Amino acid sequence: MASAPAFPVPATVAAHLPTGLLIGGEWRPSSSGATFPVHDPATGTDLFDVADATPQDGLAALTAAHEALPAWRAVAPRDRAELLRAVFETVTTRTEDFAALITAEGGKPLAESRAEVAYGAEYVRWYSEQAVRINGMTRTAPSGANRQLVLRRGVGPALLITPWNFPLAMATRKIAPALAAGCTVVIKPAGLTPLTTAYFAEVVRAELAERGLPPGVINVVPTSSSGDLVGPLLADPRLRKLSFTGSTEVGRVLLAGAAQGILRTSMELGGNAPFLVFEDADIPAAVQGAVVAKMRNAGQTCVAANRFLVHRSVVEEFSAGLTAAFEKLVTGPGSAPGTTVGPLIEAGAVDRVEEVVAQAVDDGATVTTGGGRPARRGHFYSPTVLTGVSPDARAVREELFGPVAPVVTFDTEDEGMDLANSTEFGLVAYAYTRDVGRAFRVAERIESGMLGLNRGMISDASAPFGGVKASGLGREGGEAGIEEYLESTYVAL
Ligand code: SIN
Repeated sequence: MASAPAFPVPATVAAHLPTGLLIGGEWRPSSSGATFPVHDPATGTDLFDVADATPQDGLAALTAAHEALPAWRAVAPRDRAELLRAVFETVTTRTEDFAALITAEGGKPLAESRAEVAYGAEYVRWYSEQAVRINGMTRTAPSGANRQLVLRRGVGPALLITPWNFPLAMATRKIAPALAAGCTVVIKPAGLTPLTTAYFAEVVRAELAERGLPPGVINVVPTSSSGDLVGPLLADPRLRKLSFTGSTEVGRVLLAGAAQGILRTSMELGGNAPFLVFEDADIPAAVQGAVVAKMRNAGQTCVAANRFLVHRSVVEEFSAGLTAAFEKLVTGPGSAPGTTVGPLIEAGAVDRVEEVVAQAVDDGATVTTGGGRPARRGHFYSPTVLTGVSPDARAVREELFGPVAPVVTFDTEDEGMDLANSTEFGLVAYAYTRDVGRAFRVAERIESGMLGLNRGMISDASAPFGGVKASGLGREGGEAGIEEYLESTYVAL
């Protein structure tokens, strides 16, 4: 457990914050004795030092997960469900603790962190309910010669690699269905934000211990050198499943590694979400939806609207509305009352956003608000609207991961749809229109796994979240999310 609390982590949380590796039910130091620091992105100061897992530690975690598998698979679905339900209750009761940690290490405003706790806890509740609804199948073969029976069971030990932008929700979105399905897990949280995941894992560990359930069901190995740790795990035949949320670039490397072991994989990768505003849209509603779709976590989400594609006849009204809305946002540390936009995760992220904005401006775009760093310590960038952006600018071709909204103009529905689909990514799209026929055309033509229709927010634990094209494989959440952790045995009778 950690020693002295560092602002803004409350002392009560710090006193119970595990900063080691969780292997086989025990928190322990790294086998090398090494640690690495976790920073507060609002100030750049160190919060805590966390044990730095070595490749040997990763393999020890897999051994624990592998050894716990038979006993965990044998636990009754109802008992797995009740464990998850108890975890949901504890997380919900400790909303303020979790929110403080999320804000401390990730920077997002406290109100958003509380929303993440509710969102993350909901995955646990949803899969506590799904644990008792894992259905097989039986039927008479079409020939009538025999019966078919399909049995389902957890695929086996799963490696879960989670990102820094939702340190609770991205962990629960993987851990909860895995445990509900009867899988055991090794989690490698993002090195930038390992604290929240550790705090959550401790809740699960304590529940397992209290119920006399196998301690190696959940294992956590934070590390400062992911590649070194993950490589040997992917090469180990005991591992049966890999679930990753992060960039497409890293996803490609992991998929190549997973190919050796023919692992089941779920990949939630990069996005480049178009936000379409048609000429018949309710513009004030579109502006409001745009702020939500863009500014959650200061634009640092895979589902952040990345490109605002607006019909020429309404572009002025929409851009003016968005500019006015951005000007009302308050940039500052996530823990400060009234903050609506927190810092970016690290200094390099601010440098990148700055470069992309400069390039758009060099190519003729106009900054209608923002366009620089506010005068304060920490990794901040001001909410920015760019109008008259070329469809070829980096600001629209690359995933921005920052509080910048580039506006591109189109003239016809066809042109808008072509622009929306002109990317290798296909995670989510947003569209505003009051024409029902157009809404259906968009839904049928859009190349993305999710569509927000007259809505700036699609995330929901009970819905299938995931992308097409280079945005990934598989779905998380909903009924589909647990399928990713199940395999089947077909029995011919
Ligand atoms: C992400 O940014 O990867 C996830 C966002 C969400 O679940 O809403």
